[in-house]
Amino acid sequence: MPLPTNSAGNSANNSAPASRPGVNSPGFRFRCIACRDLSDSAGQNFRCAQCGDLLEIIYPGWKENRPDAEHLKSAWQKRRLSGDVTDLSGVWRFRDLLPSLESGEQAITLREGNTPLYEMPQCARITGVPRLFAKHQGMNPTGSFKDTGMTVAATFARRAGFRWVACASTGNTSASMAAYAARGGLRSLVLVPEGRISWSKLSQALDYGAVTCQLRTDFDGCLRLLQELVLHAPVYQLNSINPFRLEGQKTLAIELMEQLDWKTPDHIIVPGGNLGNSSAIGKALLEMHELGLISRLPKLSVIQAEGANALYRTLRETGGKNLVSVQAETRATAIRIGNPASWKKAVHVLEATAGVCEQVSEIEIAQAKAEIGAEGIGCEPASAVTLAGLKKLVKQKFVRPDETVVLVLTGNLLKDPDYTIEFHRGELFKESENANTLNSLRRPPIILDATLDAVIRTLEQAEKQQREKL
Ligand code: F0G
Repeated sequence: MPLPTNSAGNSANNSAPASRPGVNSPGFRFRCIACRDLSDSAGQNFRCAQCGDLLEIIYPGWKENRPDAEHLKSAWQKRRLSGDVTDLSGVWRFRDLLPSLESGEQAITLREGNTPLYEMPQCARITGVPRLFAKHQGMNPTGSFKDTGMTVAATFARRAGFRWVACASTGNTSASMAAYAARGGLRSLVLVPEGRISWSKLSQALDYGAVTCQLRTDFDGCLRLLQELVLHAPVYQLNSINPFRLEGQKTLAIELMEQLDWKTPDHIIVPGGNLGNSSAIGKALLEMHELGLISRLPKLSVIQAEGANALYRTLRETGGKNLVSVQAETRATAIRIGNPASWKKAVHVLEATAGVCEQVSEIEIAQAKAEIGAEGIGCEPASAVTLAGLKKLVKQKFVRPDETVVLVLTGNLLKDPDYTIEFHRGELFKESENANTLNSLRRPPIILDATLDAVIRTLEQAEKQQREKL
């Protein structure tokens, strides 16, 4: 049975531009990142009608009517005291730099954003960089940075009249999309690689009511299939190819600058998978710089897992000219991506901010994750690449000890409990050459008889071990 057309009148087999976002919004336009063609609406595959490359959203009005930096800063500050639903969102609070809501339109929001910026004293000591911070996007409503983009993209999906939204995912996008779809009265279709995403993320999609398909392929295969699907069925794609997602994710960087009192850090370090987030952060930095919200640009650097290092290789082997795809393999399943869709956008922002791309090993990721956990913060494995990468960048003298560094932690510790439990039980990487370094970070659960004596002995032993370490 064919899927019904959506209320915007887009028929299922029409591959011509079909999605409506932008049509009645004079505030922004779509621009192709390659041929720079401008358009008011985008096709369902969010690709340029002329050359097929990715689109980005631009705000032509800023040229004639440039938003005033001081005015924006004070408006954003004031909205923090407001009880209005839109102001309570840490994304829509910055709506002046986003595609605008129509009058009377409610955003689909779960009060996303508003995430903490933590000091990292222990990791600072480990890396020798005293001014080290973590912007924890894992503190978003569904536990990952995806929520900041999803509130914007889901809102525009609903405005465009779609009933169905869909994504390919390594887990977090699907959890976030399913939640926002449910909140907005939309149906959601999730395509995830079978057996390769954490149960925790899968459970979220199921509970939020998504139609969840575990496909016998990897993430790249899921994304390829989704790209075809949107040309044949009236579903609105919510992957980060959708430029509305990146607009929402920009607010991470705006909120970060506000938290730093608009004093630019020297470095921002972010994990790289499909490369939407680094592109969004970079876009925000360039826009804030252009609008005079910040006076200089931080260096934005991307860290990848060695087994999923497409951007790293693309830069090394082709100078960023052609994508080098890889067959991805890493236990940091969130970034197990070999054919990143937004690689060109990422190359552009790295060049524009003078950042670099580095790769880290599975052992380095596991170690960094345990170190972030020991701060009382924690994160999922993909986020820990940032600390592992920082260590390398310090060694290479790309980051100096007197500089201010912000790590972007993208996912909550609870997103992948299996990894953490396997690590602490000593099951993960037990054969590795560096097992000793890892062993000192492992905190296995201790099974005891339920007696006072047994617990006191355990306490004493733990004290002794602590003293021996010092
Ligand atoms: N960290 C986490 C926790 C992620 O879930 C992802 C991507 C990334 C980093 C990489 O971000 O793709 O913008 O470069 N997860 C996607 C997903 C692909 O489907 O959840 P990116």
